[in-house]
Amino acid sequence: MSNAHNRRISIADLAAKTRRNEKWSMITSYEEMTASIFDEAGIPVLLVGDSAGNNFLGEENTIPVILDEMIMLARAVVRGSKNALVVADLPFGSYEKSPKLALDSAVRLFKEAKVQAVKLEGGKKVVPHIKKLIGAGIPVMGHLGLTPQSVHALGGFKVQGRGKDAQSIINDAKALEKAGVFALVLELVPAELATAIAAELDIPVIGIGAGSGCDAQVIVWTDLMGITVNPPKFAKAYRNLRAEMTAGVREWAADVAAGVFPTEEQTFH
Ligand code: KIV
Repeated sequence: MSNAHNRRISIADLAAKTRRNEKWSMITSYEEMTASIFDEAGIPVLLVGDSAGNNFLGEENTIPVILDEMIMLARAVVRGSKNALVVADLPFGSYEKSPKLALDSAVRLFKEAKVQAVKLEGGKKVVPHIKKLIGAGIPVMGHLGLTPQSVHALGGFKVQGRGKDAQSIINDAKALEKAGVFALVLELVPAELATAIAAELDIPVIGIGAGSGCDAQVIVWTDLMGITVNPPKFAKAYRNLRAEMTAGVREWAADVAAGVFPTEEQTFH
């Protein structure tokens, strides 16, 4: 997305794109280097997802990620980008207990990392938390369907909202829009359900494993670039960086072993 104003994309810009029926993209980023690459590529929204847990920090899932880690990662993503809106996840344990805790955590992400919005998981239960943040001037993105922070309660990474469970996701989506979220992520839900919710809501609906009927799509960057070893079925690898990097590093190590790196070109006298 070109940014004629040379400023960061705003939540109003995203709403306008959706009103114009322009589909847009959001990608995860966890540090400065990828942030600068994705920003340069014109991706309008960078998500400092707590998927950093299993895609950057070597954890099994998102649950162990703590607020201090999110702040450190988000600060690097903000530093690495100029034009994208940077959204950071409120990690598990940093908001559920009360709207005040949610505000305290979001304020830290705003002041210490300088993100422009936060995302949190859940439906009606988190409406008071969302209202508190919005009341303080913090834009909030919602997240429904497969909410990874609840993976144990949900019994695994399974499609959500099939059959009669669909209605509760629809009700939650409407409640979040009414509470004021500027956008909503729908993860791992049937395409028909996601399409119906996107049609029903005015705010942008961002899909991941939710079919092509959403207003926008989000992807985990390591899935997109072929680094993840067992990527989810809904991700498509557009490059094979794992193979490229493995080959590159092996070549370099072999050159070191053979004494042919460094050459004169990399040498000072
Ligand atoms: O943490 C994350 O990266 C996310 C996306 C998968 C939506 O929440």
